[in-house]
Amino acid sequence: MTMPVRRATAISCSNIAFIKYWGNRDPELRLPWNDSISMNLSNATTLATVTFDDALGDDVVVIGDEEVGGAARRRVVAHLDRVRAMADITTPARVVSRNSFPMGTGIASSASAFAALSLAATAAAGLTLSERELSCLARLGSGSACRSVPAGFAWWQAGTSHETSYAVQLAPPDHWDLRDLVVVVSTQHKAVTSAEGHSLAPTSPFFHQRLADLPTRLAMVRRAVLERDLETLGQALESEAIELHLIALTSRPPLHYLTPATLQVIHAVQTWRAEGLPAYFTLDAGPNVHLICETPYADELRTRLSSLPSVKEVIANAPGPGVRLVDTP
Ligand code: PMV
Repeated sequence: MTMPVRRATAISCSNIAFIKYWGNRDPELRLPWNDSISMNLSNATTLATVTFDDALGDDVVVIGDEEVGGAARRRVVAHLDRVRAMADITTPARVVSRNSFPMGTGIASSASAFAALSLAATAAAGLTLSERELSCLARLGSGSACRSVPAGFAWWQAGTSHETSYAVQLAPPDHWDLRDLVVVVSTQHKAVTSAEGHSLAPTSPFFHQRLADLPTRLAMVRRAVLERDLETLGQALESEAIELHLIALTSRPPLHYLTPATLQVIHAVQTWRAEGLPAYFTLDAGPNVHLICETPYADELRTRLSSLPSVKEVIANAPGPGVRLVDTP
C-alpha cells in the first residue's frame, strides 16, 4: 500500500542509571534481570526526524552528518521494521538523528536515540502510542531507552514479557534540583558494546549475589529520590557503580572499562566530600565519571574538576523532560 510522504521529529534526553541494567533475561526482547532507576539528562539529547516516503526505494539512515551502513544501520532498520509492522505499512524511511553531545563522552547515545526514533517513527507512521507502549517499543531498540520516555526520574520495571517491561515516572523533573556533571576523561570509542556486556554479565560469580541484594538497594534508591535524600542516594550510587564494574571485571572474559583517570576523579570526589562538598560518583560501561550533587554545589565542583589534568570536558545536566514531538526543522 502506498501512502503520502509522512514526517515527524522527536527529541529525547539520554539518562544516567542510579540502579544499573546489566544483563538480559531475554536478549531478543531485552527483558532485564532486574529493575533499574535513572534520571533524564537535560543537556544530552537526540533529535530524530523520520520521513516515510515510497519514492526512497530503501531505508536511509543518517547519524550526525553521515549516512551510515553496517551494524548501526541494521539496528535502526530493525526498529523501523517493528514500527512498520505495527502500522501495517511497507514504506521505506529516511532517518536523520543528531546528538547534542559528542559520541564517546560516556553519555548513552543509544538511550536518547531509540527513544526519539520510537516516537518520531510511530508519529510519522500515523500511530499514537501511550507512554507505556512507547517505553516498551523503545526498549526493543536499546534497553536503557525505555527509561528516557517518561520525564524526570524513571523506574524501569523489569517485567516478564514485552508488555510488562517498561519505565514509569518515579518523580517529575522539578521534584529535585539535582545535577549530573559528566566528567569526560576519555573520548575513545568503547571497545566492548553494552550488548556484549549484558550477555557476559551472568558469567561473573558475583552476578547472582548482586541479584539477590538488589531489591534492598532498589527500595533505598526509590525512597532516597522520593525524599530527596542525597546522602542515602549517593552511598547507594557509589556501591552500585562499583558493583557494575566488579561484575564486568569478573565476567569471563573480563571487561575492563576503568582507567587511571577514572580512579583519579573518584579519589578526588571522595577527598572533596571529606572536606564538606557533597557530591557522589556513578559510572556507566566506560571510563568517564558522572558526579551527582545538588545545584548549590555544582559550580564549586566544576571549578575543582577543572584543576584535574585528566579532565577533558564537563557537561552539566539537570533532570530532563520526557520524549516529545517537536516541529520538524
Ligand atoms: O541500554 P544499553 O544496552 O546501552 O545498556 C545500558 C547499560 C548501562 O548504561 C551500563 C547501565 C544502564 O542501566 O544504563
